[in-house]
Amino acid sequence: MRNEAKVVAITGASSGIGEETARRLAGDGHRLLLGARRTDRLDALTREINAAGGTAAFRHLDVTDAADVRDFVAAAQERYGRVDVMVNNAGVMPLSPLDALKVDEWDRMIDVNVRGVLHGIAAALPVMRAQGGGHFVNVASVGAYEVSPTAAVYCATKFAVRAISEGLRQESDGSVRVTLVSPGVTESELAEGISDPAAREAMKAYRAVALPASAIAGAIAYAVAQPAGVDVNEIVVRPAASAQ
Ligand SMILES: NC(=O)c1ccc[n+]([C@@H]2O[C@H](COP(=O)([O-])OP(=O)(O)OC[C@H]3O[C@@H](n4cnc5c(N)ncnc54)[C@H](OP(=O)(O)O)[C@@H]3O)[C@@H](O)[C@H]2O)c1
Repeated sequence: MRNEAKVVAITGASSGIGEETARRLAGDGHRLLLGARRTDRLDALTREINAAGGTAAFRHLDVTDAADVRDFVAAAQERYGRVDVMVNNAGVMPLSPLDALKVDEWDRMIDVNVRGVLHGIAAALPVMRAQGGGHFVNVASVGAYEVSPTAAVYCATKFAVRAISEGLRQESDGSVRVTLVSPGVTESELAEGISDPAAREAMKAYRAVALPASAIAGAIAYAVAQPAGVDVNEIVVRPAASAQ
């Protein structure tokens, strides 16, 4: 049986987990608006989904810009009439030891990983309230639960996403659901943004057991498929062979 068709907006859909989530949710019959900065990737993915019988559109999106995120959500509402699910997935992970003082990279992680999620909430929450309900799926990390060397700032951003998600859930009157999805190491382009040579090298061994991005897409699809009264709050997905 196919899921009830929902309108889903996905940030960071141009690669990795967001891209696979788009494929999976389109396959489940949902209608999608995909956002990221690399529109050539989004264009190709949208064509692929629509050619396979799904329903998707895309729009350029920079989640660090609150007005742009508002326009993105408004575009989904305009196109499909409502926004049932907002997947706040866009993220960056330029790991380094604090001693390296990569202040610009710290700022970028805070801007994308924390402010980006807040901008998604600011854009979609009023729409969900007005239409009588909705669902946020915020992608955090196992780094939302534990800290490791070189990952202090990244983990801080993911702890923040967890705190914000829990606060949003507690403030909900039951109509707005909130799911935090926390992946362990997963195949994607995330580690390509690491400029610190030692952190980059260490990541190679860590990523040897990486999950396929479809594993995280499956967890998101599970949360999205629940009936209205059921709120799956937190899902942690690790490779079976991974201690962290
Ligand atoms: N892979 C893992 O091991 C892992 C583990 C735990 C958590 N996560 C989390 O999973 C999420 C997805 O990451 P991924 O692993 O799939 O990595 P990825 O392949 O690098 O994908 C990151 C996505 O975020 C988008 N993005 C980055 N900056 C953006 C911005 N300013 N505005 C809009 N989109 C932006 C990128 O698109 P553009 O560059 O085209 O804008 C891309 O689509 C992130 O939140 C990440 O922290 C990943």
